[in-house]
Formats: sequence, C-alpha cells, structure tokens
Amino acid sequence: MKLKAFYSRFSLDEGLVERGGFNPYYQRIDSGLENKIRVNGQEMIDLASNNYLGLATDHRVKQAAMEAVQKYGVSLCGTPIATGYLDLYQRLQNKLSSFVGLQETIILPSCYQANNGLFSCIAGPQDLIVVDRLAHSSLIQGIKSAGCKIRPFLHNNLEHLEGILQRSTGYRQVFVVTESVFSTEGSIAPFKEIVQLCDSYNALPVIDDSHGIGVLGKSGRGILEEQGVEGFLGIYTASLGKALANGGGMISGKKGLIDYLKYYCPHLVYSTALTPAVLAGTEAVLNIIHSEFGVIKRRLVTYQQAIYESLVEGGFAVVPSSAPINSIQAGSKEATFILAKKLYEQGILSTPFIEPSVPVKEGRVRLIAGANLTQDTIAEATEIIKGIGRR
Ligand SMILES: Cc1ncc(COP(=O)(O)O)c(C=O)c1O
Repeated sequence: MKLKAFYSRFSLDEGLVERGGFNPYYQRIDSGLENKIRVNGQEMIDLASNNYLGLATDHRVKQAAMEAVQKYGVSLCGTPIATGYLDLYQRLQNKLSSFVGLQETIILPSCYQANNGLFSCIAGPQDLIVVDRLAHSSLIQGIKSAGCKIRPFLHNNLEHLEGILQRSTGYRQVFVVTESVFSTEGSIAPFKEIVQLCDSYNALPVIDDSHGIGVLGKSGRGILEEQGVEGFLGIYTASLGKALANGGGMISGKKGLIDYLKYYCPHLVYSTALTPAVLAGTEAVLNIIHSEFGVIKRRLVTYQQAIYESLVEGGFAVVPSSAPINSIQAGSKEATFILAKKLYEQGILSTPFIEPSVPVKEGRVRLIAGANLTQDTIAEATEIIKGIGRR
C-alpha cells in the first residue's frame, strides 16, 4: 500500500502533450549531426543542437576519437584521482587553460557536474552569492547546495547588481555568478563591467561560458577574449559539449584553487573520468579552431542572420541577439508547443523552452544553425520558417 502511494506521486501531467498532439521532448535521433539528421526515421534540418561550429561529425575529430579508442580502449574505468588521469587528460587540461588564458583547469564529466560541485567547495553560510535571475539550473542547484545566502539580480542589469553589492556588507566573501551567453535568450552578459563592479566591491566573479567558448572572441576563446577581460582573477566554467562538440565540463582559474578542487570537489574526485575518445575529440576540435575559426565563424554568423531575417519576415517576435542563437518569443506553454510542432511537421527540429526553464508565459523556441549545414539547407529552412509565419 505504502509503495503504491509512493509511486503514485510520480505520474506525469500529459495534458499539454495530449491537447497539442505532440511531445517535442525525447525525440529519437537515428543519425549523427550531419547536414540533415534523421529523427524517428525522417530526414530533418537540425536547428536544435548546440553544434555551433558543426564539428561533431567532422572527419578529423572522428579520426582522433577512433585513434584514441585504438590506443586506450573505451574507458580507463577510474576517477581522475585514480586510473582516469590519462596523458590525454593532462594534455587537454593544459590546452584548455591556455585556450581561455587562465592558469589551471580541471575537467569533469559534464558542466552540469562542474557547476554543481563548485559552489559547495568555495562558499558556505558566511558567504553571499549574487546571481543573474536567468542563470542555468546547474548554477542554481550548485549555489543552493553551498548553504550560503543567495540574492538574484535582474537579468544583465548592472544597476540592480551594484545596488545589491552596495548593501552586501559583513560577509566573508561575496560572489557574483552569471553566464556569458544565456542559452534560452541569446543575450550576452556585460561581463567586463561585472568584473569591474566585482573589483570595486571586493566580490569574486564566476562565469559559465558554456555557450561562449568556441564561439565568442576573435579566435573563439570565449567571453574573456570577446570583452577584453585581462588578468581575470575569478572562476570560469564551460561545457565541452556545445561548440567544442564533445562532452564534459571544465573549471578554470588560479592554480591554488584548482589544485584544491582536484582533491576536494566530490563531483570530480568520485566520478569516472571522461573517456579517451572524448578527450582526443575535444583536442582535435581545439586544433581546428586554432586554424579555421575565422572561416567557420563567418558561416555561423551568416546562417544566424539568414534565419533571423526569415523569422522577422514571417512575423515572429525574436529576441535580439548578437550570439548565434535565434530565440522566438512564443508565449504560453501551449503556443510554444504548437510552434515547435509546426516546425517539426515541416522538417525542422527546434528546441522549445517552457517553465521552469523560462518564466511562466515566456516560452521560447530556440533555433541554432550550425556551421556544418549547407547553404541549400539554410535556404530550405528559411523558406519553411517564412511559410509557417505567413500561415
Ligand atoms: C549555461 C549552461 N551551463 C551548463 C550546462 C551544462 O553543460 P553540460 O551539458 O556539459 O552538462 C548547460 C547545458 O545545457 C548550459 O546551457
């Protein structure tokens, strides 16, 4: 009887899906992220993945991953502190540090895990974390686990942030936590100014650059390069599963702190290390960025603009963005699902966001056109979008 009561708590409300006749989530993908992908056996245009640079199926990246499997097998079956600390792992740590221009890096199985593990190591009840109101779930969950005081500031609002910092005295340490590119909106944090505010109020900045690394900056090194933040003394995290086209998460910063995390961050110490294929694949992506970033970025920007123009022509309300993200303001949960369904039926895979990922009634349908798509595919996508808009 008791077990029945327990399991009955977990039934899903399927009303939304039943009313709309469509569930946009957990669609089965039957191929890699090629120019066209197969979804439930159908060929579609991928405007959903975070494969910004289009390198997830690049032959050089696949080759590097396959060679690593040949040499090391598929796993080291150990945490980094034990047998997981492969030479590839150490090399990638060093390359990532110099890529973002920081002293030291650790690599975790995901950025969700990195953000989850970081805050309970660096903050406690005597500290305050001031965090952007739209910060990612991984940051919020990590911050909550630290047991510190938490104050949200209005999205990208420097005045509001400064007001909070002025009133925040008496804490052991104040942290300011934000993202570079906010993934549901495509908005970009005024991070240089945030760092300056942190300097003025003795606060420590923490930035999640998951959607900026490999995308922002003149050579793809992310938010610090893009905004000319020199000598960054804060903490930097990023996902290796978006523009870097593999998987995993990094935390970078001053050597003393990162060395401490190597022994005291449980999410790193007690979790099996990234596999050789992923380590080698990420290294191969960094090499490609070094030599080809300019060309790839130009394609990415051109595609984003083409999609943006088709949305505007189709009459959609789009959040203005200088990141390669087009986010349509879809409204209610129902309207968001309906728009994702229309796109799906016409052959476009999108990412719909409803609450709690975004505020209630501020549903978004996000479109990201990776640089691997062909111009013909982009032209096809823009015709579909304009057609849906006209109808
Ligand atoms: C801003 C942000 N931070 C962290 C993550 C988590 O990254 P990962 O997929 O590597 O766990 C994501 C991915 O959704 C993200 O968008």
